[in-house]
Amino acid sequence: MPIKYISHAKNPVEGQAILNNITRPQRVLRYRENNQVFDRIQRGMPFYEVETQEIIGEPSDNLVLRGECLSACAYLKTQNIQVDLVYIDPPFASGADYAKKVYIRKHPKLAEKIAAAEQTMDSEELRSFEEKMYGDMWQKEDYLNWMYENLMAIKSVMSDTASIYVHLDWHIGHYVKILMDEVFGEGNFINEIIWCYSRPSINSQKNFTKLHDTIFWYSADRDNFIANMNDVRIEYSEKTKERNKYGSGGSKYSGESTERITHEDGKIPEDYWNIPMVVGNANEVVGYSTQKPEALLQRIIKASSNENMIIADFFGGSGVTAKVAHDLGRRFIHCDVGINSIQTVRDRLKEAGASFQMLEIQDGVSLFRNPQQTMDKLATLIPSLQRGVEGIGAFWFGSIVDSKLGTMPVYVPNLLNSQEKVLDIPQMNQILNQELPDLDIDVKKVIVYYIDIDGEQALKKFIHNNNNTNIEVELKDLKNLLHDVVIEDIVKVKCSEVEDGFEVEIMEFISDRLLQKIETFNQKSSTKTPIVMSDDGLELIEMIALDCENDSGVWQSSTEIKIDKLGFVMKDGVKTKTFWDGKVFSEKQVKRLKVRNISGDETVMMLEAVQ
Ligand SMILES: C[S@@+](CC[C@H](N)C(=O)[O-])C[C@H]1O[C@@H](n2cnc3c(N)ncnc32)[C@H](O)[C@@H]1O
Repeated sequence: MPIKYISHAKNPVEGQAILNNITRPQRVLRYRENNQVFDRIQRGMPFYEVETQEIIGEPSDNLVLRGECLSACAYLKTQNIQVDLVYIDPPFASGADYAKKVYIRKHPKLAEKIAAAEQTMDSEELRSFEEKMYGDMWQKEDYLNWMYENLMAIKSVMSDTASIYVHLDWHIGHYVKILMDEVFGEGNFINEIIWCYSRPSINSQKNFTKLHDTIFWYSADRDNFIANMNDVRIEYSEKTKERNKYGSGGSKYSGESTERITHEDGKIPEDYWNIPMVVGNANEVVGYSTQKPEALLQRIIKASSNENMIIADFFGGSGVTAKVAHDLGRRFIHCDVGINSIQTVRDRLKEAGASFQMLEIQDGVSLFRNPQQTMDKLATLIPSLQRGVEGIGAFWFGSIVDSKLGTMPVYVPNLLNSQEKVLDIPQMNQILNQELPDLDIDVKKVIVYYIDIDGEQALKKFIHNNNNTNIEVELKDLKNLLHDVVIEDIVKVKCSEVEDGFEVEIMEFISDRLLQKIETFNQKSSTKTPIVMSDDGLELIEMIALDCENDSGVWQSSTEIKIDKLGFVMKDGVKTKTFWDGKVFSEKQVKRLKVRNISGDETVMMLEAVQ
C-alpha cells in the first residue's frame, strides 16, 4: 500500500478545447470511467517507500529510479525536487509487444576456440531468443486516462520555467494533444515537432510510407521559458549556400525556396527534423528496441535547458535522455518500470563516466523484470486458469472451471496500468455494475485479485450493498502469487587468495527461468539449430560485480566485468578485446558477489571470507 498520497497541487487549466458534442464537467473529454481518474487526481499520487540500491561514482543527485512515473513524481515532490525539462516517450498504444533479443554468451572455457571458428559469423546469427520488455496494448480510453494522470503528476514536479516534450505518433498523438491542452493550457503550447526518419519503403502497400513521429512541446509558462535557439542552429542547405553566392538577383535555383543566409552560425531548425534512427552497429546502439537517437535529445536538451539544470525522463527506456543530459553537463533523472531499462541505463551511464544513485520504489509490483513479464507469468501461476473463454469479455484475465461452481471469471489488475493497482470503490463499482451484468454466461462466482485495497472494510461493505446480481465476489491477494513468480538463480563459486589479491571463480550457474525459456525456444523453433547448454551454464551470465565494502544494504561495485554479446569483457566500464575466463580478480577481500544473467535477473550472495 502507498505510505500516503501526495497532492498534485497545480490544477489543470480548464475550458481549453471547445468540442460541442463532448461533455466535460471535470475534464475535456469524458471517456468511459474518466470519473475514476478525477477521483484519483483528487486523492493524489501514490507515495511508496524508496530504497537506495546502488551508488555509482561520486556523491551526486542524479537519479536512476526503478518504478512507475506516478510514484516517481510523488517521491520527487516529497523531496522538493523540481525538474527543468521533461522529455517522455511513453508507450504509444501501438498494439505491439516490444521484445529484447537475449544473447547466449560464449562459454568462457571454449570462447577462444569458438571465436576462431566463427570469425565470419554475423552477430545476428549468434544464438539468441527474445524476452518481452513491455506490453503496449491498451484500449484508447484506458490509455488516455492513464496518460492524463501521468501528465498531471509530471506537471506537479516541473519548475516554473520548465518545458515538456511528449513524443508520440499517429496512433494516439492527437488525443494526447487535447489532454495536454487541458493539463498545461492551450496557451502554453509551443510547437508540434515532426521527427522524420528513414527506412526502406515498402512497395506493395496501398499507402504512403509512415515515417514520422510527433513531439508536442509545451512550457509551464509561455511568457517565461528557456529557448536557447542559438545553441541548436544548423547549417543552411547546399542550395541556399549556392544561391547566396548569386546574391538576391536570382540564381539557377530561382523559383524555388526563397531562404536566405542571415546568420553566420546557420539557421534555426524548422519544426520538421530529419534525424536518422539509431540502427545497426552504430556506437550508441544498446539493444533496446525503442531506443531513440542521441541527436534528437541533443537538440531538445540544448534548446530547452541550461547547464546544471535537471532533465527528467519518466519513461526512460535505453536511457538516451540521461546519457545526453550527462554529456551536455546537465543533471538527470531516469525513471522506468522495467529491469532491462534500469540495467541498460546503469551500464550506459557508467561507461559514460556519470555519477548517480540507483533507487527502487517499493510498490510491490514490478517483481519479475517488468509488468508485462509478470502478467505472463501470473497466467501460468493461477491454478487451472484458462484464457480466451467464450462469453467472458476482455475485462477478465481468464476463467477457472470448477466442478461445483462452473465457470468463474478471474479479474487480475493490469500491472501496466498503475490506476488498477489499488482496488478501490470506483473499480469495484465497474465490476459490480458493468462487468457482472455484461457476462454472457451463467456465473455463480467471480474471483477478483488485488495488489492493494483502499479501505478493505469499506470495500466489502460496498460490495454487500451494491451487488445487484446473484454472483459471489471473492477477493484474493495477488501478492501471494507474485512471491512465487521470482525464483533466484543458483551460483556456485570458489574464492581463493592469489598473488596480489583474491580470485573469484564461477564454478556453476543454474537459472531455472532461463533454462525453461531455452527449452521453449528449442521446442518452438524446430527449423533452427537448438541451443545446447553446457553443464555449468556459464554462458548465461552477462555481468559479475564484486562488493568489497558492504556485506548488506546499498551495493557498491568495487570491481565488475560485463560480457558483451560477442563474449568480450568490459572491465569497470572499459571495453577490452579479451574473452572472459570464468574468473574475476579483486585486489581487496570480497564481501558480496552479484551475478546478472543474460535476461537481466540479478542474484546477490555473501562470500565466505577466504582464510
Ligand atoms: C518507448 S519506450 C522509451 C524509449 C526511450 N525513449 C529510449 O530512447 O530508449 C517506453 C518505456 O516506458 C516504460 N514504461 C511503461 N510504463 C511505464 C510507467 N508507468 N512508468 C515508467 N515507465 C514506464 C517501458 O518500460 C519502456 O521502457
